[in-house]
Amino acid sequence: MLVTGASSGIGAALAEALARAGATVGLCARREERLREVLTRCQSYSPGSRMWVTDLSDAAAVDALAAAVVDELGGVDMLINNAGIPKRRHVTSLDPVTVDAVMQINYAAPVRLTLALLPQMLQRKSGWIVNVSSVSATLSSPGEAAYAAAKAALSVFSEVMAVDLWDTAVKVLVVYPGVVDTELFTVPDNDPLVGGPEPITTDVVVDAVLDGLDREASQVYVPGWFANVVTGKAADLDGYLAGVADYVRQQRTQQ
Ligand SMILES: NC(=O)c1ccc[n+]([C@@H]2O[C@H](COP(=O)([O-])OP(=O)(O)OC[C@H]3O[C@@H](n4cnc5c(N)ncnc54)[C@H](OP(=O)(O)O)[C@@H]3O)[C@@H](O)[C@H]2O)c1
Repeated sequence: MLVTGASSGIGAALAEALARAGATVGLCARREERLREVLTRCQSYSPGSRMWVTDLSDAAAVDALAAAVVDELGGVDMLINNAGIPKRRHVTSLDPVTVDAVMQINYAAPVRLTLALLPQMLQRKSGWIVNVSSVSATLSSPGEAAYAAAKAALSVFSEVMAVDLWDTAVKVLVVYPGVVDTELFTVPDNDPLVGGPEPITTDVVVDAVLDGLDREASQVYVPGWFANVVTGKAADLDGYLAGVADYVRQQRTQQ
């Protein structure tokens, strides 16, 4: 099993929970010390767990990671594409370089890793690809055009992949977290969060993912009520967009 972005937040919590359940976990991220702390915790449950310090913005490094994990773990039966970067920036302040960088980490890298690891999953006739998207992908989150679009691309890629692989032993799960209390909100060069619900803990996300895997679900929203908002948006897009714009206006006047 490979968990990307395992040095903190949702990825670290997922890796530890899966190791506790007996999985041999491969971890990757850029921050070596943080990753090693998570690895130590995982190895206390699952001694064969390993880590790779990798920058997923580098395509060659993504390919090298896939090869190393298959080689050193003997194969990957679950890929959790969790690594991601935020981008809270009003569309009038966005530039193409930023949009490309967000797309690279949140869409291109997980797709590249998926394509690299899928053949050996098909060959071993078992596999899960778990892609961590965001409610932003479906809810037109204000000030997050670049981030939301990259996550939407990942979600749609995942859904089509699920159909393409329907009659195989490889399953696909898309995870849509809402606001989760992680270091994502301390990443520099982002606008402050405007409004939003109370943050949930990473444990809530872990439980939802484990439950989704158990049920062989195609998607999980965390918390689950976000799925109702998506349905409401689909039923009346104009009303939904007007409501979001109104909400942002109200939040700004309260600041
Ligand atoms: N927190 C939320 O409210 C929320 C909501 C919806 C979706 N999500 C998604 O959940 C996922 C996990 O985020 P989180 O909330 O747990 O935040 P986080 O603690 O900041 O975790 C992000 C992870 O991605 C890794 N990462 C970032 N850039 C990378 C790169 N270039 N190469 C390799 N790894 C990289 C980070 O590790 P290094 O910095 O060590 O490389 C870190 O382990 C993300 O995909 C995020 O978009 C989060």
